[in-house]
Amino acid sequence: MTSSPIRTAVFPVAGLGTRFLPATKASPKEMLVVVDKPLIQYAVEEAHASGIENFIFVTSQGKTAIEDHFDVNHALEQVLEQRGKTSELAILRESQLAPGRSAFVRQQVPLGLGHAVWCARHLIGNQPFALILADDLVLADKPCLAQMMEAYQEVGGNVVAVMDVAAEHVNRYGILDIAQDNGPYVKAKGVVEKPSPGEAPSRTAIVGRYILQPEIFKILDQQQKGKGGEIQLTDSFPKLIAQAPFHGMRFIGQRFDCGLKEGWLEANLAFAYARPHLREHLLKSIEKYCK
Ligand code: UTP
Repeated sequence: MTSSPIRTAVFPVAGLGTRFLPATKASPKEMLVVVDKPLIQYAVEEAHASGIENFIFVTSQGKTAIEDHFDVNHALEQVLEQRGKTSELAILRESQLAPGRSAFVRQQVPLGLGHAVWCARHLIGNQPFALILADDLVLADKPCLAQMMEAYQEVGGNVVAVMDVAAEHVNRYGILDIAQDNGPYVKAKGVVEKPSPGEAPSRTAIVGRYILQPEIFKILDQQQKGKGGEIQLTDSFPKLIAQAPFHGMRFIGQRFDCGLKEGWLEANLAFAYARPHLREHLLKSIEKYCK
C-alpha cells in the first residue's frame, strides 16, 4: 500500500504538568532531564531519526525555555570555542534545529490534548503527521516512531503506538476496541478514553506516539469536551476510525511515563544503565543507598 510520507511532527508542550509540581512551577515539564537531556530533546531526536523534517511545537506561557533549547546559543558557543571545548560544542550543536524547520504555535488556554493538536492545524495543512508526547519516553533499539513509520507503510491510515497493560491500569489510557489482532498490529473498531476495568473493551492501551490523517482536524473543529472537561484527542478517534483504517502497533521497547515521578525515576535508572560509562556507578549507588 502507498501512503503519503510523514515529514512533520507535532509536539504538544502546553500542559500544566501538575503531577510533577513543584518542579514544573516555573519550568516546563518537557524540560525535565533524564540523565543529561531534557525529555523534549529525546522526543525531537526520535522524530529526526525516524525521518521527520519539520517540527511543530504547541507551547504556552512559561515554555520559552523549550524554544531557546533548540535555538543557537551564540554566547555559549563562543566561550566553548575560545576554551577549545570541542566535545561540549558538539553536544550543544546536537540540540539545534535546522533553520526554518521548526515552528511554535501557542495554545492560549490548556483545554486538553485534542485542543493542543487542533491549534497546529494551519501549520500542518492537509497532510498526515506524527504526534509525539515528550513525557512518554521510549527506550528502544529502533526508535518507536521509526517502527510506526514501517507499520504505516504497510497498513496506511492512522497508526498509534500501543502496549498491553494490567487490568487495574486501563483507567489511565485510551483503550482500543479490537476488530482484528495480528500480533504486532491491531485493527481497532473503537477507542474508549480512560475506562474503568469493567468497561474496558481490551487491555491494549495507546501511548504517546501517533500517525494521524488530517481528517482529524474536522472532528476536532467541533471542540467537544470529554473526561475532566478537556477536549480529549482520544474522543475524536471513533469518528476517525469510521473514515480510515486505524491500527495499534505493539512497539518493541520500554516506555516510561515521565509525567509521573515514579515513571521519571525509572527512566533515569534505565537510561543511565544503558550508558556503559554510567552503569557501574549506578549499580554501586543503588547498593550504597538502597538497602
Ligand atoms: P498530560 O495529560 O500529561 O497533562 O499531557 P499535563 O497538563 O502536561 O500534566 P498534568 O496532568 O497536569 O500533570 C500530555 C501531553 O499533552 C500536552 C502536555 O504538555 C503533554 O506533553 N498538553 C496537555 C498540551 O499541550 N495541552 C493541554 O491542554 C494538555
